[in-house]
Amino acid sequence: MPALVREISAGIAYDLGAGEGRNAIYLARNGWKVFAVDSDRTAIERLKRSALREGLQDRISITQGDANEFLRRSILPVDLVLLYGLPHCLSGRSFGKLIEWCACVKPGAIVAGSALTAEAGMPSNHMTGRLYLRKAAVYRRQFSRFKELLWQEGEIHESHEPLVGKHVHSAIWFVCRRERNE
Ligand SMILES: C[S@@+](CC[C@H](N)C(=O)[O-])C[C@H]1O[C@@H](n2cnc3c(N)ncnc32)[C@H](O)[C@@H]1O
Repeated sequence: MPALVREISAGIAYDLGAGEGRNAIYLARNGWKVFAVDSDRTAIERLKRSALREGLQDRISITQGDANEFLRRSILPVDLVLLYGLPHCLSGRSFGKLIEWCACVKPGAIVAGSALTAEAGMPSNHMTGRLYLRKAAVYRRQFSRFKELLWQEGEIHESHEPLVGKHVHSAIWFVCRRERNE
């Protein structure tokens, strides 16, 4: 996030699937106006508390709900859309809707995010809710209409003791921009 934010001047950002808001808080601290959305009530409560603690409540608008539902009602011409950790939480239909919306961001806007991918699979005892793992190539195809600024495929090695021991996830990280002359 620091590298990304250094490259573009502060504007309006959507943080979709914002979780507890590590990115939303970072952006707000750096002069952005952020609209953060997450479906998880607990994560949203934590994000609200962090925003208040840091005096950033005027810079972060926080919504609990589904990202696509939020986008359906949203008409802001944003400069940056964050999708960190969200795509693999969405079913095919929801993911399709999200990508359709991303294709309509204003020319010059940046879309950045990450997703777990299907290459490494998921340990059967991982204890997460339902995830939708897609091949990295599927994501690459979906974002092919954008100018690719960063594309990384890699692995995340972690363990969640005592429930799940050492395991590996495959993942992608991307930053892309809607071209101005499209
Ligand atoms: C892996 S976490 C990533 C959180 C945050 N973006 C980060 O990078 O720290 C994915 C988040 O997406 C949220 N999420 C899942 N499905 C969603 C949906 N349909 N609409 C909005 N948020 C959703 C989850 O509640 C969770 O907080």
